[in-house]
Amino acid sequence: MVRIAIVGTGWQGQGLMSSLKAIEGMELVGACDLNADMLAKVVTKFSVPGYADYGRMLDETKPDGVLICTHPQHRYELVKEAAMRGIPCFIEKPPARDLEGARRISDVLEEYGVMNSVGFMYRYSTALQKAKELIAGRRVALVRSCMLDGLAIRPDSPRWFFDKERSGGPVFDQAIHMLDLSRYLFGDIEAAAGFQGNRTVPKGEDFTVEDSASLTLRYRNGIMQSHTHSWAYNGFRMQLELVSDELDLMLDLGKGTLTGTAGGEPVAYESQDALYRLELEAFGRAIREGNPAWIRSTYADSVRSLAVALSAVQALENGQVAYVEEE
Ligand SMILES: NC(=O)c1ccc[n+]([C@@H]2O[C@H](COP(=O)([O-])OP(=O)(O)OC[C@H]3O[C@@H](n4cnc5c(N)ncnc54)[C@H](O)[C@@H]3O)[C@@H](O)[C@H]2O)c1
Repeated sequence: MVRIAIVGTGWQGQGLMSSLKAIEGMELVGACDLNADMLAKVVTKFSVPGYADYGRMLDETKPDGVLICTHPQHRYELVKEAAMRGIPCFIEKPPARDLEGARRISDVLEEYGVMNSVGFMYRYSTALQKAKELIAGRRVALVRSCMLDGLAIRPDSPRWFFDKERSGGPVFDQAIHMLDLSRYLFGDIEAAAGFQGNRTVPKGEDFTVEDSASLTLRYRNGIMQSHTHSWAYNGFRMQLELVSDELDLMLDLGKGTLTGTAGGEPVAYESQDALYRLELEAFGRAIREGNPAWIRSTYADSVRSLAVALSAVQALENGQVAYVEEE
């Protein structure tokens, strides 16, 4: 049994706890949150021992791995405490709020040599894996992608998302998923340009983020991508169209499908992936077998996606092309 503890039991933390509870061979052994009401709620909901003191939780429960689900600016000490005890860390996305913070976390993971994984769960989509296989050895020239969600227009959305300082806004907090999986599929992104707007939800004291954005990305290998992002859409849509003289594919990550043609052959693939479950199973398997190869998003790699997201935000804010910092 792989024994897992969690810190940060808010929205995402609870989502992962629900997924974890359904996985055979993995067990939730402790939950920690600074918010006493939140902690009391999850202790009842998930029948798990609750801790206000993170270090005590790690020492008493001695987990095989820990899920770190706090906001990106509240991670370093939590990672360090786990790493010092040799405990593998699953860290939610975005990997940090800035590159300096990310490098500190990278350094501490490296110093103690603990296995790590970042919550870029789309990498575990079987439709995306199928696309990756079909792309191999074929040219992709252009990509058209979108990620449309309704966070900004749903009355029950957590307010911290709309504070630019805290969440970074739709491109930093959410488009980072698309930037990460695009890097995973197509290679390194070297530059970003774009525009942002508030056509639906105007900026104000308690809403300091863009509600939508349009980005253009250029890859080092010459691929170009146009990405549309919104938090002001009635529904959820997440798609990529990959086009060239050799393929014409539509990857729909909302529906889990891949359709079109590759090398002149028809492609029609459907999946029912539970992505949070798949990323946690991979983390558990890596721990059980002592083999990090099961993990598709390591912290060190996720820092490259963070660098792209930061450049995209910079491009939107300055209205100029932003070049992604070299490693
Ligand atoms: N992968 C995904 O699809 C996905 C979806 C939603 C959120 N997220 C990410 O998950 C992270 C958390 O987001 P959320 O919406 O769950 O936030 P949240 O505000 O709902 O929860 C964060 C929790 O962390 C607790 N916390 C903060 N500092 C702590 C500390 N030092 N010790 C213990 N507890 C502490 C807070 O009290 C709060 O309960 C963010 O980085 C977010 O971007 C990922």
